[in-house]
Parts: sequence; C-alpha cells; structure tokens
Amino acid sequence: MHSYRPWNQLAIPFPNRQTDWPSSMSTNASTAPHSGNIRIRQASDNDVEELTRLINAAFVVEQVVFDGDRVDDLGVRAFMSGGTFLIAEDSGGLDSRALVGCVYIETRDDRSYLGLLSVQPARQGAGIGRQLVTAAENLARESGSRVMDLRVISARGEELLPFYRRLGYEFVRTEPFPADLVTKAPSHYILMSKPLI
Ligand SMILES: CC(C)(COP(=O)(O)OP(=O)(O)OC[C@H]1O[C@@H](n2cnc3c(N)ncnc32)[C@H](O)[C@@H]1OP(=O)(O)O)[C@@H](O)C(=O)NCCC(=O)NCCS
Repeated sequence: MHSYRPWNQLAIPFPNRQTDWPSSMSTNASTAPHSGNIRIRQASDNDVEELTRLINAAFVVEQVVFDGDRVDDLGVRAFMSGGTFLIAEDSGGLDSRALVGCVYIETRDDRSYLGLLSVQPARQGAGIGRQLVTAAENLARESGSRVMDLRVISARGEELLPFYRRLGYEFVRTEPFPADLVTKAPSHYILMSKPLI
C-alpha cells in the first residue's frame, strides 16, 4: 500500500492561474477560542509521541477519504529525518506546556514544502494555524527558499482552499493520487504555492 505522504514530489511549478472555490467555513471572533500564550519552537525526539497524537486528532477529518490514523511514531520519526517539525505550545493556563499545534517543513533547493499542519480540534479558529504557517515560512526563508508549496486533498478543498488563500497561497494545479493509494472516496491532490520573497 502506498503511504499517504503528499510531499513526495516538490518540483511544483509556480502558480499561473487561479480558480475560485466556494467557502463553506468562516470563523466568528466572538465564539472562537483564545489562542492563549503561544510559543513556537522546533520539535525534538522527546516530542514524537505527543506529535503523533496531535496530528492524528487533527486529521480525523480526513477519514472521509483515508481509513485509520494519519501517522504513527515511526512515521513522525521518518519525517524528522527529512525535515523539521515546528510545535506550538500554550505556555499559559493550568497545563504549562500543552502542545496545541504543529507543522512540518521540508526544504529542497530553493523550495520548501509545508505539510501536516495540525491544530488541536478544541483550539482551532483562534489563530494558531496562521502563526504556525508564518513560522514555517520564516524558517523556509532562512533556509534560502523562495517558494513554499503545499497540497490539500480535493475532498477538503471547499474548506482548505479559502483558508490557505487567506494566508497568501494560490492554486497551482491538480494531481492524481498514486494509483496504489487506497481511498474510501474519489479525491485528488490540489497543489498550492506562495512566493516567500
Ligand atoms: C486547518 C487548520 C490547521 C487551521 O488552523 P486554525 O488555527 O483553526 O486556523 P486560524 O485560526 O489560524 O485561521 C487563520 C486564518 O484563516 C481564516 N480561515 C480559517 N478557515 C477558513 C476558511 N475555511 N475560509 C476562509 N478563511 C478561513 C481564519 O479566519 C483566519 O483568518 P485571519 O487570521 O485573517 O483572521 C486546523 O483547522 C486543523 O488543524 N485542521 C485539521 C487538519 C488539517 O486540515 N490540516 C491541513 C491539511 S492540508
């Protein structure tokens, strides 16, 4: 079975057209949870188990297309050997270092790939995702990247395209799933990019 690892190809051409996608989601400042006192740092080996739990909790929403967990501890360790996880910790409140979000960045030449963006379900809609994407872009820029690439699955395009557009990303093209990737429903990748310089 093909592992669901959408950043196995980073050579994505820079966007040259834009498509309008319907938005089904909006955030309401009066009902959104507070972002708290968020600190973003690079993950270490000690964070593997918590990262796995966080990513799987956030990616339950992708079970419309994929069965099972998004990743396991071994998978997280494999990602760590090829790139960097940034972690968002809430340093306020009773639990003094609750892991509330993460993002994975992989850099190749002058492009970086952003993946596994995850915010604890109870903390979504409070700006943590935006902070993580900004931190990932800063890291990529410092590593010499001029473009950030990412992929979303089309089954979640209605929700995720407006989100990434709001953060400055543009539609690039679609791409089929690998033939051996087992899915529960028809879907494909949507590639998006953002210039970093
Ligand atoms: C997607 C996800 C990371 C977003 O994180 P979040 O912390 O809820 O997002 P934020 O609160 O930082 O939102 C950032 C901005 O996007 C906007 N936004 C969020 N969803 C939006 C939508 N569907 N359409 C338009 N704008 C949207 C917010 O209003 C906010 O705008 P502002 O900062 O200008 O006020 C989070 O919902 C998540 O973990 N989802 C499950 C995992 C997932 O889908 N990851 C991405 C896979 S590619």
